[in-house]
Amino acid sequence: MSDFPQLQGKRILLVIAGGIAAYKSLDLIRRLRERGVAVRCILTEGGAKFITPLSVAALSEDKVYSNQWSLTDESEMGHIRLSREADLVVVAPATANLLAKMSAGIADNLASTALLATDKPVLVAPAMNSMMWAHPATQANLATLERRGVRRVGPGSGELACGETGAGRMAEPMQIVAAIADYFTDSAGPRPLAGRTALVTSGPTLEAIDPVRYIVNRSSGRQGHAIAAALAAGGAQVTLVSGPTAQPDPAGVRIVRVESARDMLAACLAPLPVDIAVCAAAVSDWRVENARDQKLKKTGGQPPTLILTENPDILATLSQPGAQRPHLVIGFAAETENLITNAQAKLRRKGCDWLVANDVAPGTGTFGGDDNTVHLLRGDSVESWPTLTKEAVATRLVAAIAAALPASPTSQSC
Ligand code: CTP
Repeated sequence: MSDFPQLQGKRILLVIAGGIAAYKSLDLIRRLRERGVAVRCILTEGGAKFITPLSVAALSEDKVYSNQWSLTDESEMGHIRLSREADLVVVAPATANLLAKMSAGIADNLASTALLATDKPVLVAPAMNSMMWAHPATQANLATLERRGVRRVGPGSGELACGETGAGRMAEPMQIVAAIADYFTDSAGPRPLAGRTALVTSGPTLEAIDPVRYIVNRSSGRQGHAIAAALAAGGAQVTLVSGPTAQPDPAGVRIVRVESARDMLAACLAPLPVDIAVCAAAVSDWRVENARDQKLKKTGGQPPTLILTENPDILATLSQPGAQRPHLVIGFAAETENLITNAQAKLRRKGCDWLVANDVAPGTGTFGGDDNTVHLLRGDSVESWPTLTKEAVATRLVAAIAAALPASPTSQSC
């Protein structure tokens, strides 16, 4: 077979969950085996209601794993090893239930435990009733998984086993084979930032008023985390300095967690020199000069007066000329009015190389939302991008970074 030569010799851990589409997984195994792929299977209890362990074992030419608590299974191959001795983990069919467990990190059977324990990339082929597929809970789970780097193929639309028509049909076996092949093509593909080092700031900073209260900027950290993930996917060695956020840690990134702007600055100076710095954090411009060691109490008199003092500007500090200056320093401009004019002034004021300007006025949905509409300012040029997901903004920004950097990681500023 020469249609997908990149599959030859690869090892797949195939998780077959409980859905009628499990019958298609038998064909998937056969098609993968024909292309030289070693397929090891976990068949869940639900999956075994639809297809037998014997047929899975016969087609995969391997033992089938089902029980987390089987002494034989555990002594032959612990679930941790099982989850890691593959190049890729494929979940087909991926039921709504299993996707929910993956999103929440629940490990209550062999399949979910292996999926939580794996250090390998995961591809899911969802299969379910169309209402279950469209349910906000399923969509939110999927969005979480995709943000964590889980890949997806399908589902398609059509007549479903339950008699209804709509989205929810598991992708056909050859579509899944093609998606697996795509993964191996991408992972072997060019890593334009290999050998580069990058620093990214993300999330808000917190500035204490007293031990229980603080000042904070609005920021979900999603854009900054997506940029760190995209830089790492491009091959860069990334340090992500993050204020408190609910974002999952991006894969392959070193995270330094901080609270205040001053701590963020210190954490940013530590990894220098780096090739690239992207400051996406919403740093609090001020901190409370007269922050208290003890909780402020209501005394019945005047409310307390907070005296604010300016925080260090991390972006401006990193942009200062000197031996430690990154080759490329990129800032963000969160503006609520006169977006381009304010951003152009900010670019000059901060001394950075590029500025990504975004409108954060109420009603734009930028804070905490999925999408971002940005303008990339480089010198006098302004490039307006269409509205994209924050992940797509990150990918496009990283492509621009890779194109702009000089050929060798050690060469001079661009
Ligand atoms: N920034 C920073 N340190 C600060 C303040 C901001 O590194 N103390 C960075 C942000 O990460 C962002 C850029 O500077 O990359 C612009 O942040 P923004 O909040 O838009 O601007 P400000 O500097 O706060 O300026 P202004 O208050 O005039 O909008």
